[in-house]
Amino acid sequence: MKIMTEQNLINAFGGESQASMRYRLFAVIAGKEKLPNVARLFQAVAYAEYVHAGDHYKELRHLNEGRVANSMAAFGPGDSRKNLGHAIGGETFEIEEMYPAYLEVARMQEEKGAERSFRWAYETEQMHKALFEKAMAAVEGDRDVELGPVHVCDICGCTIEGNAPDYCPLCGAKKNHFVAFE
Ligand code: FE2
Ligand code: FE2
Ligand code: FE2
Repeated sequence: MKIMTEQNLINAFGGESQASMRYRLFAVIAGKEKLPNVARLFQAVAYAEYVHAGDHYKELRHLNEGRVANSMAAFGPGDSRKNLGHAIGGETFEIEEMYPAYLEVARMQEEKGAERSFRWAYETEQMHKALFEKAMAAVEGDRDVELGPVHVCDICGCTIEGNAPDYCPLCGAKKNHFVAFE
């Protein structure tokens, strides 16, 4: 594998792993604040980031040595308002800088597997950003967010509010690949 794409996969694995853990911790905080839907949203998105981390990791199956991941991460947990700010900031960074750059390099280097993994994440982060912005608007009004069931594809991380689709719009997986958070 080309070195730059390989390092980008390692960095993205680090970033997704940290995002997943951060959102699990944020879910616990939201639960304590009596914001069950914000907590459920963090749980669902934490699962999606776990899927992304796993997709990137699988592309690195040829590696057999220790490597350092360089990942942008928001530090310092707070109340749900602060945590949603971290979440929106992180998703925005991935959408506007990280994944567009990683995707461009993977395309240039004709690394098809990495390109697919980056594309699934890039598309999904846009869904996450919109859901977190909706939650932030509610929390800023001192309310929990109104949230239907959330479904997450266990292949690509696609995150949908509402019923699971017959086929995943990102990866084409069948309905039974969607994990429900309701
Ligand atoms: Fe992600
Ligand atoms: Fe995300
Ligand atoms: Fe999918």
